[in-house]
Amino acid sequence: MTTAQKKSGKSTKQDVAKAGSGSDEIRGAVREHYGNLAKSDSSCCSTKESSCGCGGLYSQSEILSLPQDAIAVSAGCGNPTAIASLKPGMIVVDLGSGGGIDAFLSARKVGPKGMVYGIDMTPEMINRARKTARESGIQNVEFRLGEIEHIPLDAGVADVVISNCVINLSPDKQQVFKEAFRVLRPGGRLAVSDIVLVSDLPEEIRKNLTAWSSCVSGAVSEKEYIGAMKNAGFEHIKVDDRVVYTHEQLSDYLKDSEYADRPELRGRNLSDLIASYRITAVRPKK
Ligand SMILES: C[S@@+](CC[C@H](N)C(=O)[O-])C[C@H]1O[C@@H](n2cnc3c(N)ncnc32)[C@H](O)[C@@H]1O
Repeated sequence: MTTAQKKSGKSTKQDVAKAGSGSDEIRGAVREHYGNLAKSDSSCCSTKESSCGCGGLYSQSEILSLPQDAIAVSAGCGNPTAIASLKPGMIVVDLGSGGGIDAFLSARKVGPKGMVYGIDMTPEMINRARKTARESGIQNVEFRLGEIEHIPLDAGVADVVISNCVINLSPDKQQVFKEAFRVLRPGGRLAVSDIVLVSDLPEEIRKNLTAWSSCVSGAVSEKEYIGAMKNAGFEHIKVDDRVVYTHEQLSDYLKDSEYADRPELRGRNLSDLIASYRITAVRPKK
């Protein structure tokens, strides 16, 4: 969360425990948070701020090749296109496409014979990404409004499913992996960047709904995350990269939450609690 995003973001400061895991209230808070981001213009890529944001995650040539409007609201924690092995002609699905940064990068890689579907549940993000595509003349990308727990696509359509810092936000991660598996063709590949829990979060953070929207409180352990992928049927699951966050990085994520407003908690060391992972997996051929 950049300072500019913080100014525009008005996530509800409610309690996750009160909202109840899996509840519409979590999705409502996440939708409101990213709806506000979609209406803002804060360029985390160019300022290199760390956050549920993209500072330093993309190469300079990638940044230069992208529409500025997509960069301005980018909010990922990795670069899944770097591990997705995309080739011309492929069909790609981007779960939680936001302003479209990874969808547009993928569109360039799969070329005019390929196609990219960006899925997002926040209408403001979908509208913004569609406008960017239109204004940039990018034709091999389509943004669809919908929840990644119920992907609005037929079974087996995708060669590759990517996602950047989104699955941690879902209250039902098992259902997301089930859906990713469903839309992939047999032999298709999943490539995600996401936040994973390294050790237990302090209760005040874990319970905070704004911290959930900032990609912190919804994170689960590597065991749980990979367990959900295995349960969905994925094989060859590989952790490609794992960057554990420092105190400063996590504090930056939490700038927007009630946690940051409580001086008695600010002295706590927040190192080694969450990490950004890059994970690949394959839907078996049979
Ligand atoms: C942290 S942002 C990442 C956006 C984009 N992947 C990027 O890297 O810039 C999370 C995005 O996922 C969307 N999102 C969160 N939970 C979702 C869900 N359950 N279904 C669909 N979209 C979701 C939000 O609306 C938001 O646009």
